Amino acid sequence: TDEKAEQSKVLRVGTSADYAPFEYVDTAKSDEIIGFDIDLANLIADRLGYKLQFTNTDFNSLIPGLQADKFDFVIAGMTPTEDRDEVVDFSVAYYETEQYLVTPKDSDISSLKDLKGKVVGA
Ligand code: ARG
Repeated sequence: TDEKAEQSKVLRVGTSADYAPFEYVDTAKSDEIIGFDIDLANLIADRLGYKLQFTNTDFNSLIPGLQADKFDFVIAGMTPTEDRDEVVDFSVAYYETEQYLVTPKDSDISSLKDLKGKVVGA
């Protein structure tokens, strides 16, 4: 049926929204789960014509959730380890980088601690 076809276009996604800027709860605004991983998952889903249904849970519950067929996939800034690799499949890496915050030569910001009071939450 059409309804079933619609349903099959929904993927259940597990995450643990306690890991800004990758996934976290937008407490200041919407209480929604936002972040880099959420944007990336939505981008891929959009391109493939899927909708995503996110479940926010404890990080340590994510792999058990996959094993119990609660999620179609997990996106949670998860790094492969030998133990994890034995029980789940990892995609190609989607985030592997070395990037820096850049300041002018004469800036009074010379280390992260100089940002205290200058950015929200620091
Ligand atoms: N990359 C680390 C790991 O895989 C930490 C990931 C934590 N992610 C989270 N959403 N809390 O163990």
